[in-house]
Amino acid sequence: MKLRPASNISSIIPYPPGKPLEELEREYGITGSIKLASNENPWGPSPRAVEAIGKALPSLHRYPDGSSYYLTEALARWIGATPAEIILGNGSNEVIEFLVKVFVQPGDEVITSHPSFLMYQKFVQVRGGVNAVIPLRDMRHDLAAILAAITGRTRLIFMDNPNNPCGTLISREEFAQFLERVPEEVVVVLDEAYVDFVDPELRIDVLSCIRKPEALAPVVALRTFSKAFGLAGLRVGFGLMHPEITSLMHRVRQPFNINLLGQIGATAALGDRSHYEMTIRETTRGREWLSAEVEKLGCRAYPSHTNFFLIDVRGDATRLYEALLHQGVIVRSMKPYGYPDFIRITVGISAENQRFVLSLDRCLRELNYV
Ligand SMILES: Cc1ncc(COP(=O)(O)O)c(C=O)c1O
Repeated sequence: MKLRPASNISSIIPYPPGKPLEELEREYGITGSIKLASNENPWGPSPRAVEAIGKALPSLHRYPDGSSYYLTEALARWIGATPAEIILGNGSNEVIEFLVKVFVQPGDEVITSHPSFLMYQKFVQVRGGVNAVIPLRDMRHDLAAILAAITGRTRLIFMDNPNNPCGTLISREEFAQFLERVPEEVVVVLDEAYVDFVDPELRIDVLSCIRKPEALAPVVALRTFSKAFGLAGLRVGFGLMHPEITSLMHRVRQPFNINLLGQIGATAALGDRSHYEMTIRETTRGREWLSAEVEKLGCRAYPSHTNFFLIDVRGDATRLYEALLHQGVIVRSMKPYGYPDFIRITVGISAENQRFVLSLDRCLRELNYV
């Protein structure tokens, strides 16, 4: 066999897949582990979504509705957008891919920050585009450096807001000033995967940016059902943008990209506001409690606008990650992201948070960190 993959593909490092929980438990000889590593909703999906999905199972022999009509209508009502301003994706990941397919040709440039969500750069590599990567400054997007990095070949700017992994936010004023200075042919993408956890007073009014006067750069917002809505396993995300951009995105979209259960489950989840509100409320409460507890242990907890936050553990993060794993607590080491002493944890349910604090205390002592 002689394979000749495109050179831009050979150089891509695949997204590191996590092991199934069961395998990890077998490997480490543990049971009942808790996963605080992927910023999922620990309370699970809305019971209404589960019920609606159950009812839809006998229809699995049918193709789903290729236009996701009911979900798009329900989302439009939830957000106050028009259906033409919405594009659905197999997770917001797929909407990122659509954007890169539509706007990037080989050699074109895309600006992202580091660290931030890894998938932007991967899709750009697949397309043969060039990543211009700007380091965060004080754990925030460095808007001045991003502006300075724009060239005649820049097509897209991706900024996760709040940022993953730091949980920091771009303010409304900063964003307005930034947008004024971006050339109108560069698309500014705000990835708002965690926006549901942000105080509404601090959120950027993306709809008015999308509908703004013609002279400014176009703004696209990305959202997802994977976080606050607790449906990460269904893979439903969406983008909000000017209808002229959605019409370009539909050209690269597979006809049935949102599966039947995804459409049904996400629509039902939108009908359960109390589950959504409970998630936001309890996440905020859990984050505040956890932050105070880890500080009592001598670590530093960083403020966050999301369902996760960074902890400076005052020692090698990967060793601590391993030690926690032996206790059946799965977190994320930030060493590969350039923060060698930091871990990132997702807020869990109360029992998980308590267990994390106990395990952290034990591991910090074992490793002599604090
Ligand atoms: C910033 C950010 N954007 C996008 C995603 C992907 O979300 P989805 O599950 O909708 O593909 C994630 C997932 O962790 C994320 O952290």
